[in-house]
Amino acid sequence: MCGIVGAVAQRNVTEILLEGLRRLEYRGYDSAGVCLVNGDGSLQLRKRIGKVAELEKRLHEEPASGHLGIAHTRWATHGVPSDANSHPHQSGNIALVHNGIIENHEEMRSRLQEAGYEFRSDTDTEVVVHLVHSHVATGKDLLQAVTDASKELKGAYALGVVSAEEPGKLVCARSGSPLVVGVGIEENFIASDTLALRQVTDRFIYLEEGDIALITGDQISVHDAAGEEVSRPVNKIQGGHGTADKGRYRHYMQKEIFEQAEVVAETMRGRISDTSVLEQALGARAREILPQVEHVQIVACGTSYHAGMVARYWLEDWAGIPCSVEVASEFRYRKTAVRPGTLFLTISQSGETADTLEALRQGKSQGYLSSLAICNVPNSSLVRESDLCLMTEAGPEIGVASTKAFTTQLVALQLFTIALAKLNGMAHEREAELVRDLHRLPQLMAEVASLDSVIERKSEAFAEKHHALFLGRGVHYPIALEGALKLKEISYIHAEAYPAGELKHGPLALVDADMPIVVVAPNDELLEKLKSNLQEVKARGGELFVFASRDAGFRDEENVTVVDLPELPDSLAPILLTVPLQLLSYHVAVLKGTDVDQPRNLAKSVTVE
Ligand code: G6P
Repeated sequence: MCGIVGAVAQRNVTEILLEGLRRLEYRGYDSAGVCLVNGDGSLQLRKRIGKVAELEKRLHEEPASGHLGIAHTRWATHGVPSDANSHPHQSGNIALVHNGIIENHEEMRSRLQEAGYEFRSDTDTEVVVHLVHSHVATGKDLLQAVTDASKELKGAYALGVVSAEEPGKLVCARSGSPLVVGVGIEENFIASDTLALRQVTDRFIYLEEGDIALITGDQISVHDAAGEEVSRPVNKIQGGHGTADKGRYRHYMQKEIFEQAEVVAETMRGRISDTSVLEQALGARAREILPQVEHVQIVACGTSYHAGMVARYWLEDWAGIPCSVEVASEFRYRKTAVRPGTLFLTISQSGETADTLEALRQGKSQGYLSSLAICNVPNSSLVRESDLCLMTEAGPEIGVASTKAFTTQLVALQLFTIALAKLNGMAHEREAELVRDLHRLPQLMAEVASLDSVIERKSEAFAEKHHALFLGRGVHYPIALEGALKLKEISYIHAEAYPAGELKHGPLALVDADMPIVVVAPNDELLEKLKSNLQEVKARGGELFVFASRDAGFRDEENVTVVDLPELPDSLAPILLTVPLQLLSYHVAVLKGTDVDQPRNLAKSVTVE
């Protein structure tokens, strides 16, 4: 999704902006642009549809430099991807980049057209730059003009604005879309994501909703929504340069799949002893809040939603706590009945997903007991706005298709469930058994990932297919959903998942030799039921690919290909069975030659609804 970078310094900032854009590429985008303000106070705009590399070529043809600049990667919402629609947008001496969506853009556009402004793009953003210009035209300085323009905007935005008339100043504003200020030495920066600036600083100010900031080389002043100057803390981020490089791997996604053994261990570190979960690791207020929880409402999007679906099985089975799970984009738009004692649990890799954040904000006034975020990005909006948080320690996830964030979410959800189950009477022996299994997880993950070359060979059968069906039962139904999501995201093969028991209620009609059927088959209490479902497929000539634990009794036969996994402890099976499905999608996508890390039309962090 769209990304913003801005810089004001004593040196030329072109390369800082370009490096920032490269670091934001993982978010998904379709065009890029930059505006540099040079010493004589003129604006130099360069924009290109396509990748940041195309913008670099453009800058090579017609170089631009300056001590002040803003840059952007655009993910089209209003208007097709094109040079004209890409940011920055310009109005006279003003240039602006924008993330988010302006909801009242049509009304504003008519008003500004009547006032004589000509529009050169189809974007909602262009109204903002003309609006700011219209305020400057009345004699206001840039800060005042952005402040007053913001009051007229409805929707979500993060803005970076420069003016050729004020060549040492960068003004930015945040409402509903994330924005940080990077603090340097005699140079300062802005970005929609700290990752974009980790090469120049490790100190950040997280702007709050409604904040507007004026940034120069040696000063940062932040004003809140009421216009009062406020002090916002400077946070130092640990962990060096943060962005991952691909190392020996061909793609980030591949690297992230193989990192899972390590990051699930990180997510458990300090949170479990030999035989128990240390509930104080869930945060200072956990002891006060958890005993009051009688019901859990989970809200999330995409892969994180699938993690929530898995957790529902654990919460109801192990803790006896009723749990509801819903996608945030639906939840936020319906009237919900809140049961007393309900914990509002959000799950998000980025902590910036617009629908999840909005659901949390609404939840706060609806009588929930408290809110807990399971999240991978410290200081993200979701973390800052929740009462409790449990961080996943996956490290930066760059591939758009989520892998290690999902498995670490499952680990965090197990820790949370066990902590809650203990308060609801889980016997210590059962807790000890679950925790001992968790200690085995990193080793088992590595064993499962070592089946890579076997899965790579099997993936050939999928490369020419147009559809695939994924089947699972019980807690493995959401794992089938996640497997299907991975395949469609990166290989563009249409994939659907069904609970195997529903086969005969529809999808069986689709089964023929052209429809590969992927089966998630642990040796659990539903195994025999699953085997009968598979007979229904075989009888109709369907080709089965079964990912089964070794003791589940599957073997290769006509139309049945089995990938043998180690014996999987019940509690870990959903986490471990995820890995071969990730590898399958990865290899199919590589065979098809798609853009694995940045699949078409998708974004890593969906900061607009
Ligand atoms: C996008 C990403 C998915 C992710 C979803 C939710 O669609 O491409 O990988 O699962 O957003 O994101 P979140 O950051 O809230 O987990």
